[in-house]
Amino acid sequence: MKRRDFINWVGLGLIASSLPVAIAACSSQTDTPTSEASGKWQTVGTAKELDQKGQLLVKNSPVGNVLVVGTSQAGNLIAVDPACTHKGCTVDWKADAKKFACPCHRAEYGTDGQVQKGPTTKPLKTYTAKIEGGSVLVKS
Ligand code: FES
Repeated sequence: MKRRDFINWVGLGLIASSLPVAIAACSSQTDTPTSEASGKWQTVGTAKELDQKGQLLVKNSPVGNVLVVGTSQAGNLIAVDPACTHKGCTVDWKADAKKFACPCHRAEYGTDGQVQKGPTTKPLKTYTAKIEGGSVLVKS
């Protein structure tokens, strides 16, 4: 093997071995807030804020964007990631119909996040929610 070929092989090996580290470094920047908050209760607002409108939209919470629906007196709070799974518009809560509706292309989701009407086929991400000590908490 010529010296030049050997150096090329070593250089290629170094690049190949550092690629997973580079990929991990890039992906951890986007995943950090959500992955750190995964499985832990996170405060996203107060019961007072939730009770004012019967819903609470919080952007960039520790679990990411979250839309909590209900009141502090209601038994079951509903919490979803409000990003429509079609193209990412923020869904609205339609209290009368008890569903989430996307204003962009009219997709609809049930209270469990399941698709009721396309064009999307993927459900909304859901969270578990509760009220404790006057705070609204969610966890994924
Ligand atoms: S972005 Fe929601 S239906 Fe298209």
